[in-house]
Amino acid sequence: MTMPSGKLIVFEGLDGAGKSVQIERLASTLVKRGLDIHVTAEPSSGSLGQEIRRRLRQTSPCDEATLALLFAADRMDHVNAEITPALDSRKIVLCDRYVMSSLAYQSAMLPMEWVRSINQYAVPPDLTIMLEISVEEAIARRQNRAQPIELLEHQLRQEMVFVHYQSLLANHDGPLARIDSSGSFDQVEKNIQQAVFHHFPELQSE
Ligand code: TYD
Repeated sequence: MTMPSGKLIVFEGLDGAGKSVQIERLASTLVKRGLDIHVTAEPSSGSLGQEIRRRLRQTSPCDEATLALLFAADRMDHVNAEITPALDSRKIVLCDRYVMSSLAYQSAMLPMEWVRSINQYAVPPDLTIMLEISVEEAIARRQNRAQPIELLEHQLRQEMVFVHYQSLLANHDGPLARIDSSGSFDQVEKNIQQAVFHHFPELQSE
């Protein structure tokens, strides 16, 4: 059996959209089919990603442009150290957030074109899965979790991010699956699987 070529599948959505649960579920479905999976996230687990997470826990981490550059630098490092090697060894990489997150979150305060340009060397995803949920529902879900609410997660910011995501989706080029994430986890999981097999029929025959 020849393994299919490497693929980068990115999950996007508001904080609380259910990305981590759905990534875990998709990973286990694909593993059961004998596929080689690499699950990862941004901010990454590398030193720059850890620095970003440390700063996000502070009340005033740094100015918005520095934060945008940190996200872009972490992404470049993540691509070079982890994503590209995994793709080269024909793995299916499932990544929680990627360039679209920077475009949606950082361009709330910065020009979109500048944010796009500092991310221009990031390899394009083979599929972006957008988990769509309302701001109200996303915030309600986050509040059920016993985690301190991070700086970027307050309501006004989420509303701005929601608006940015909508305009990015309307102008998106590249493979995209928009999934309504307001239903049950099981239903959302089924819809994601359908979208993945629709975009990559070769994975179904493994
Ligand atoms: P998140 O995916 O929520 O991590 P976790 O759920 O493990 O805490 O990411 C942390 C925050 O970083 C989130 O509010 C979104 C934000 N973020 C950006 O602003 N820009 C980016 O490029 C990325 C990757 C994340």
